Amino acid sequence: MEDFIVLKNVLKPEDIDHLKGIKELLKNDPESHKPRASNGKRENNVYNITNKTVYHEDLIFEWLDNFVPWDREVYEYWGVNFYDLQNPYALHSDGNDTRRAFYQGIIPLSVEPSNKDAYTIIFDQTADTNVEWIAPIYGKPDDYVPFYNKGIRDPRYFGGWSDEYKIPDEQGYMHWGSKWDTTFREAYKGFSIKYEYKWEVGDIFFFDSKFTHCATELLEKGIHQKTGLLFCLNRK
Ligand SMILES: [Fe+2]
Repeated sequence: MEDFIVLKNVLKPEDIDHLKGIKELLKNDPESHKPRASNGKRENNVYNITNKTVYHEDLIFEWLDNFVPWDREVYEYWGVNFYDLQNPYALHSDGNDTRRAFYQGIIPLSVEPSNKDAYTIIFDQTADTNVEWIAPIYGKPDDYVPFYNKGIRDPRYFGGWSDEYKIPDEQGYMHWGSKWDTTFREAYKGFSIKYEYKWEVGDIFFFDSKFTHCATELLEKGIHQKTGLLFCLNRK
């Protein structure tokens, strides 16, 4: 099984517009549109297709099937969501089921402003289920419960973790700006970068669901928001 697959420039502008149109349909539907992770003036919004109301999930499954590079007998959709991201997600994994978790796909729809570089970082370290790394430096209270994933406070939970600083400072500053010094050098101690996917509209990026991953800093990198369609595949 390949760790990553990048389909370069497979989506045309009309494909991107098609997806953005679906996101707009979902926007006013309270069953689909879930504001999340508000942080002062910046907030994340999730538009869920698999909770389907105004747009039927089968339509997006069929559309995505045109691009997914495996036989339809092999996989099924586990979740399809649009994200407007203003606060980056820290290290986590989304694989819901060890036996069935397969690949995740990211379809970048926009980076605002478009001349800025947004990345999804894939780490070497793995996790069996959907978890969020609650680094000690985050200073979360003991009863803190993440919005969705299960909070993990012991780094030894993650496959391949070992107690060293593994991410070079140069990469750290590139992706996290000054937050590398204040937070992330320490928060990501023991984790190493396997792959940096730079968001390019037109691409579809797939990665094995076992890998932990994160979004890089947005505000400090001059990015107001990035918007993408994210989907999870399970083995049938
Ligand atoms: Fe994720």
